[in-house]
Amino acid sequence: MVHEKEDGVSTATTSDIGTGMDYQKKAREHLWLHFSRMGNYSDEHEIPIIARGEGPYVYDDKGNRHLDGLSGLFCCNAGHGRTEYGEAAARQIEELDFFVLWSYAHPRAIELATKIASLTPGDLNKVFFTDGGSEAVESALKLARNYHRMRGNGQKAKHIAREVAYHGTTLGALSATGIPDLRAQFEPLAPGGCHVPNTNIYRWPEDHDPVWAAEAIEERILFEGPETVAAVILEPVQNAGGCFVPPDGYFQKVREICDKYDVLLISDEVICAWGRLGHFFGCERFDYQPDIITSAKALTSAYIPMGAMIASDRVAAPFMEGDASFAHGFTFAGHPVAAAVALANIDAFEREDLCGNVLRNEGAFRGMLETLHDIPIVGDVRGAGYFQAIELVKDKDTKETFNHEEAEHLLRGFLSGELYNRGLICRTDDRGDPVIQLAPPLICGPEQFEEIHDVLRPVLTEASKMIRD
Ligand SMILES: Cc1ncc(COP(=O)(O)O)c(C=O)c1O
Repeated sequence: MVHEKEDGVSTATTSDIGTGMDYQKKAREHLWLHFSRMGNYSDEHEIPIIARGEGPYVYDDKGNRHLDGLSGLFCCNAGHGRTEYGEAAARQIEELDFFVLWSYAHPRAIELATKIASLTPGDLNKVFFTDGGSEAVESALKLARNYHRMRGNGQKAKHIAREVAYHGTTLGALSATGIPDLRAQFEPLAPGGCHVPNTNIYRWPEDHDPVWAAEAIEERILFEGPETVAAVILEPVQNAGGCFVPPDGYFQKVREICDKYDVLLISDEVICAWGRLGHFFGCERFDYQPDIITSAKALTSAYIPMGAMIASDRVAAPFMEGDASFAHGFTFAGHPVAAAVALANIDAFEREDLCGNVLRNEGAFRGMLETLHDIPIVGDVRGAGYFQAIELVKDKDTKETFNHEEAEHLLRGFLSGELYNRGLICRTDDRGDPVIQLAPPLICGPEQFEEIHDVLRPVLTEASKMIRD
């Protein structure tokens, strides 16, 4: 299928997308994909090229339609192809293309910071823009250290994160990331990262107290020495490992522990903010008050890169008086064009009540996934809002998981290619135990859930047979 623009230039289809370039070949020659085994691509195993997007769907270079069941990478929350965002960007470029936030402000950054502050819970009123999630996490970790130093507690420099959690790839953020395979190759990391158990309830012994994993944070603070711990960084629902939700009371207990030891609570909402869990911010879903929120991805629904670290008035206070300053920044952070797009995005969220759409439909989404439980390899279905995972197991009764070779064969050798070929983009992930993750755009509803089901059921059934044979 070739899409013709009015001027006759084809936009997004066929192997040469209208420019005469062999995109497949040139991608292999020049484009270095992130987290990708470049050596595995060949004429037989092509790089998927996504050329166009519209609502919850994207189209590849051959014109095939795929449901974007992962919202890009948990970020295209408002769906693809919104021309009003482009118009907002164009208007902004005409008015002011760029100005830096180092000792200057510009209207869009002021408007956006004000808007964000009006949406955050409690006194999270100070917005420090970044270009993405890793930068937001770096900024939060640096602010936590600097905050304690400003108050005369300069020894408080460590941060506690959870096992298997992903907080980004820059060396500071990577020290919070709890995935050994991502860390090992880059050691030594920035010092200070400590890790505690996550909330993988599916694999907890049945007699575990629901808040034991919160208590493990207190144990770690005491082990390290409270005078050395600056912050705890947690996602509302942990992504890596497959949508680990917190048990009731977990975050309330963590808050209590943080207050007891003068440790800041950073809520890493790079995925969980902007409607993913049915609220503007993930902490609202579980009713806790962080000291800092890190956000990125769907702040602009990914139409343009932007992130933010949002600090409470209390944490920002030492930097707001006299000649103090937070000696940290990024040239492009808070870019006027990104800020204009973010404002258009938040406007669409409010006009179309996208958070409400998630809350109204999440039960149907989850219910559809639960119907797959009769398939032998479907071990667990978990998550919140439009952020759900299916854990795949070898044996449902014993919860036995797959070994490395089996997971490799199942996920990379079969599932990811088969789901894509049948028109569903989702994530097959084995950074913890093998899972399939789904996080569709927030505009989705029952029609898309049925499409997801109609792909997942036959593919998972076939995978189950493969495992048994
Ligand atoms: C929870 C969390 N924190 C931080 C990051 C890093 O964000 P970015 O890839 O924009 O640097 C991610 C990315 O997926 C994330 O999920």
